[in-house]
Amino acid sequence: MTESTAPARRKRVFSGMQPSGEAHLGNYLGALRRWVSMQEDYDCIWCIVDDHAITSGGDPRKLPHHVFDLAVSFLAVGLDPERSIIFVQSDVHEHTELAWLFNAVTPVGDLERMTQYKDKAQRFESIPAGILNYPILQAADILLYKAEAVPVGEDQRQHLELTRDIARRFNATYGETFPITEPLIDEKVGRILGLDGEAKMSKSLGNTVGILAEPDEIWARVRTAVTDPQRVRRTDPGRPEVCNVFSLHKHFTDAETLAEIDRKCRAAEIGCVECKRILADNIADNFAPFRDRAAYYKARPKEVRDVLEHGAQRARAIAADTIDEVRAKMGLRWRDAISD
Ligand code: TRP
Repeated sequence: MTESTAPARRKRVFSGMQPSGEAHLGNYLGALRRWVSMQEDYDCIWCIVDDHAITSGGDPRKLPHHVFDLAVSFLAVGLDPERSIIFVQSDVHEHTELAWLFNAVTPVGDLERMTQYKDKAQRFESIPAGILNYPILQAADILLYKAEAVPVGEDQRQHLELTRDIARRFNATYGETFPITEPLIDEKVGRILGLDGEAKMSKSLGNTVGILAEPDEIWARVRTAVTDPQRVRRTDPGRPEVCNVFSLHKHFTDAETLAEIDRKCRAAEIGCVECKRILADNIADNFAPFRDRAAYYKARPKEVRDVLEHGAQRARAIAADTIDEVRAKMGLRWRDAISD
């Protein structure tokens, strides 16, 4: 009996993150940490989605810096340009091109049903079409590379469902072309609550801390974190199961130390301030290598540019093939059809 020694082909995964500058704790715990480890087992493509960012109407002068700072964060946490394709969406024009082509197979009703659209739309008197069409561009990001799986948070499940519908509809109309991409949602992580203990961690809400923050800044942010509201006095016994600070400890310490914190909190052997101090110190220690690597790249912007250019070249090579195939199938390579 012969056994095949050829390694199984790695699954291709794609994911994107909006550029809002340096990554924060929520980006790290909810996405980046997982992306780094996925590099072991998958063929990975990581994208900074600046074409998406313009739909939320930020300052155009800041956007390039937000892109650069997020790229530095990607490299600082250990996304590896040798193993993964790391690039900026606007460097590969095929994303917006495929998004246009997908307009042909996307019902407006499906877009209007997206909960994220409904939430965002409330903030506008006149809703920009880009807010409605946002998930079409997301589908284009993923399908341009025929990605088989996409690591995302629970909040993106509906957009992934739409991506799958677009792929199915395209395949049925124009012939088998795209995979039906699987969402990889890490149930264990769930929603990372902000330091306010109320909303999802986000930079715009100011309830998080940058992954590259210095130790004193980490402490300044973490000391404001909301703990068990019923623990008013230092002598009151705490309830780790309802405390958001305790739930953050889980990510930064081993099981044994965690059990110790749990016990001391219940027994009121440590107070909330002390507990937050331990958390801040652990975050600062865990992220120290990120700060070092970020300092290296910040001092060498050309190296970051080169990494992103190299990534864009590799992305373009795949994207161009898909666009060619899609255009042909949609009848948009008219020259080929007209003989002399
Ligand atoms: N919409 C995603 C978010 O806000 C970002 C994103 C854009 C994305 N394109 C993507 C995520 C493709 C996964 C795959 O988080």
